[in-house]
Amino acid sequence: MNLARITGTGSCLPQRAVTNQDLEDLVDTSDDWIWERTGIRKRHIVSAGETTASLAEQAACQAMQMAGKRPQDIDLIILATTTPDQVFPSTACLLQQRLGIHGCAAFDIQAVCTGFIYALSTAEKFIRTGSARCALVVGAETLSKIVDWTDRTTCVLFGDGAGALVLEASEESGILSTHLHADGAYENLLRVPGGISNREASGYIEMRGNEVFRMAVTTLGRIVDETLEANQLHKSDIDWLIPHQANIRIIQATAKKLGMGMERVVVTVDQHGNTSAASIPLALDVAVRDGRIQRGETLLMEAFGGGFTWGSVLAKF
Ligand code: UT7
Repeated sequence: MNLARITGTGSCLPQRAVTNQDLEDLVDTSDDWIWERTGIRKRHIVSAGETTASLAEQAACQAMQMAGKRPQDIDLIILATTTPDQVFPSTACLLQQRLGIHGCAAFDIQAVCTGFIYALSTAEKFIRTGSARCALVVGAETLSKIVDWTDRTTCVLFGDGAGALVLEASEESGILSTHLHADGAYENLLRVPGGISNREASGYIEMRGNEVFRMAVTTLGRIVDETLEANQLHKSDIDWLIPHQANIRIIQATAKKLGMGMERVVVTVDQHGNTSAASIPLALDVAVRDGRIQRGETLLMEAFGGGFTWGSVLAKF
């Protein structure tokens, strides 16, 4: 069995930033409410010509450059998104075309905010079993396209962006464990109710925020315990928490559960909002590029989202 190691990271945000003050002109909200309840200051929103695939391309190019990989070195592309450019080809195939890669497997994964954890976990299985040696794993979203911009309870929360990493077969330990879960019983708490088959149009995000919040905090607490137990690790063995960025209060609750000071938690929700499947790889790239995360450190990535889906990846960077 091969081990799988992260060898490059990249990210991309749309040019246009939308502040909380900008949203005060759209809906009955305030910078104070958004900041206090969510920890968000601004989010980036795509303009004409920017799509999930175009954001993914820039993030992927950065990750490949850091890993020193050319297009012909990539033998697997997995892209997590809830906001694909088209019904088909998959956004992974559109990305493959943009990168000039031919022939390798490429597919999308849909697990909403847990999508990147699902994608990374799947890529790791391909590498461990020898089915791939150099995978591009991407989380990319244009959530702004499925947000109801008249609904203050959701429109202040989400943003667009993409993050990517290169995962390579290695003899050094990299991904230490992955844990994936879902429970489809909670559709009524968080969903986009439309789709091709039932309405021929997607519709917009609907969320019972307070109930989702409570489920997220307890479920993420459980996934932390599950991950530590499976690896026989203590809380103090984790160097960095890289959580899904939905709400600073959910992130603080998970950090508290781990007994971690916030200085060991990568927080980007203030700058990016909730970018769903893109939020973890975006946060990872920020902390790798600013020098906080160093080789050999132990990273816990975790997410909770629509489905409900939830999961974790424990990795030695
Ligand atoms: O990423 C996938 C998973 N998603 C999440 O994890 C999101 C989880 N949920 C949350 O982050 C929080 O529940 C929210 C940020 C969505 C909401 O915060 P909350 O503290 O749970 O507020 P609430 O929904 O209980 O609403 C409190 C009040 C309500 O007014 P009343 O009924 O008390 O008069 C809302 O109408 O805040 C009001 N409100 C707002 N006020 C100003 C809701 N949205 C806004 C807004 N601006 N944007």
